[in-house]
Amino acid sequence: MQPSQAMETRSSCRVFTDQPIPQETLERLMSLTCRAPSAINLQPWQFTVVRGEEVPRLGKKLTRAYAERGISCGPDNTKPLPEIYLERQKELNRVMGPAMEQAGVDRNFINTGSLSFYGAPAVVVATLDGAFPPERALDLGFALGWLLLAAAELSLATCPVGLVCSYQDIIKDFLNINPSRRVVLTVAVGYADDGSPLNRVRSPRAPLDQVVRWY
Ligand SMILES: Cc1cc2nc3c(=O)[nH]c(=O)nc-3n(C[C@H](O)[C@H](O)[C@H](O)COP(=O)(O)O)c2cc1C
Repeated sequence: MQPSQAMETRSSCRVFTDQPIPQETLERLMSLTCRAPSAINLQPWQFTVVRGEEVPRLGKKLTRAYAERGISCGPDNTKPLPEIYLERQKELNRVMGPAMEQAGVDRNFINTGSLSFYGAPAVVVATLDGAFPPERALDLGFALGWLLLAAAELSLATCPVGLVCSYQDIIKDFLNINPSRRVVLTVAVGYADDGSPLNRVRSPRAPLDQVVRWY
């Protein structure tokens, strides 16, 4: 698969089958991920790959914390969002809404689904060394972009799951991750349930003239 094909065809998967991923496939995925560039080649990332029964065990702990703390998916903006972003959020809801209705899930599905990694057989937890400022999360962003595209080539579906970073104390405790590290993002990985309407959602993108400036 050409990178351009992966870029054009990948989308977030929100219903996984319970088919496990062969260990060699996961190793190939992580080896391609770690080919990503980073500033001064410091590779400030560490990836913890959670597999098998450990995924639902972690999911249960996160779901319990959600019941207590109630932190939901959101844009994490520190100032009121300009109208253009609110419109993009509405556009996503316009394509997700009917699929959620068809799949018979409630409005809380994105929160509860995220916290259980949508039933994926594996989750990659990406952490940044505590020695670095938050800006270096950019390097992990490159690596995770690599991961999404490499996964597509390996016929694996993915969903980036950022909500769980609001519960990072629980993740770090469960996975024995050094408290000084920061969980930047997690990615659910597995095989898509192609029968689910939720996996047929194709999120729109803003027209180029809204996001690209030419000089
Ligand atoms: C940093 C980041 C965090 C995300 N967090 C979540 C999440 O917590 N739950 C979820 O269902 N999707 C999450 N997503 C997936 C986005 O909703 C999705 O990428 C976006 O709507 C575009 O759709 P696509 O991935 O299908 O192209 C996240 C994506 C990114 C890049």
